[in-house]
Amino acid sequence: MATVLKEPGAELTYDMSDASWYVDDRWQEPFAQMRAQDPIHWTQGGSFGDFWNVCSHKAIQHVEALPEIFSSSYEHGGITLADRIDDGTELVMPMFIAMDRPKHTGQRRTVAPAFTPSEIKRMSDDIRMRTAELLDTLPWDKPFDWVDTVSIELTTQMLAILFDFPWADRRKLTEWSDWAGDIELVHNEDLRAERLKHLYEMGAYFKKLWDAKINAEPTPDLISMMIHSDAMAEMDELEFMGNLILLIVGGNDTTRNTMSGLAYGLHTFPEQREKLEQNPALIPNAVQEIIRWQTPLAHMRRTALADYDLFGKQIKKGDKLALWYISGNRDESVFEDADKIIVDRENARRHLAFGYGIHRCVGARLAELQIAILLEEMAKRRMRVNVLAEPERVRACFVHGYRAMQVQLSKY
Ligand code: HEM
Repeated sequence: MATVLKEPGAELTYDMSDASWYVDDRWQEPFAQMRAQDPIHWTQGGSFGDFWNVCSHKAIQHVEALPEIFSSSYEHGGITLADRIDDGTELVMPMFIAMDRPKHTGQRRTVAPAFTPSEIKRMSDDIRMRTAELLDTLPWDKPFDWVDTVSIELTTQMLAILFDFPWADRRKLTEWSDWAGDIELVHNEDLRAERLKHLYEMGAYFKKLWDAKINAEPTPDLISMMIHSDAMAEMDELEFMGNLILLIVGGNDTTRNTMSGLAYGLHTFPEQREKLEQNPALIPNAVQEIIRWQTPLAHMRRTALADYDLFGKQIKKGDKLALWYISGNRDESVFEDADKIIVDRENARRHLAFGYGIHRCVGARLAELQIAILLEEMAKRRMRVNVLAEPERVRACFVHGYRAMQVQLSKY
């Protein structure tokens, strides 16, 4: 393949917002070229308009450390490359991931207590029991889809525990979240109405849960915690819903795709899988490495609120920036042999998959716990996951993951 970044006369070089790079798993090479030749690279005329591709680890961290200049706020464009629709037909649910200071600080505080080390410890027994139960139902003698049977199911269970959500209805969380989180649908005329229908259904369901908890004694789940927090006084009903959706969507695809990445990645690097199988003490580090390698959210967007010289590039007020975590996590100047999973990689924790700075993922500890428990419970059963064919991948430039993956288990 030719490695020409700028073709003569062409304004548009690589449009990394084009979902086909990810569904075909071809994104590695163009990002490697951009990092080497032009790590803060302007693209014009892409699927989501013009924007800066911020591709290096250093530049992504730099931008994230300046939230007063590089805004996440919905008012300025939010966190995804898809621009907001301003004709009044889109349901606007304010979420603190798409807010700047000082509003962001107050609303993040309402949910942060659900993710403290003591809360995570409290949930861990439940998560371990459910994970063990599920692994014990898996067939050893025939192929099955790892994504649906394991990744989706365990993630849904984790969220249901966090929200104290009615257990029998838990798959609704997945269904709603898939609709809510698919930002590409916002601009799809045919499916937009369908998406809104699911969002309203979710709103009505959560309203019922809210009504049940508002006059009851506080319980240690997220909904009750939010209702009874001080900052709740400053949050209207729509903001409450928005933040609930944020927590479901935020925890759903990401954790799910890490669990699928775990199976695919370890299968792709069998010598690393064996190293981990021989030494389960490496699990905590392997969790970081798998999250780095998968990077379940390919990017977050920022919008410049002022002109800024970013390592020599002149960013203008109003410019859109895509912070490509998926590229920063493969930056060879930080991670040697970055395309490989190395379960004992010394600096795996430096990955940017959870973002950086004031918006760094609030659910990171919970996600890490769930992934670690899955690896530990697999190790107890000496369970190896063999991937039988190339997985079917998600067609999106935001969520980076898998739709289906046929696997067969074996013992080691
Ligand atoms: C924010 C990734 C799991 C809830 C974020 C951000 C990223 C991210 C990239 C934005 C950071 C930024 O803008 O700098 C991930 C990954 C996960 C994961 C890779 C799993 C491996 C979860 C879970 C939850 C969650 C389990 C909750 C149940 C949130 C929330 C925010 C967030 C609420 C907004 C934080 C803020 O704006 O202050 N996550 N996430 N995430 N995530 Fe996660």
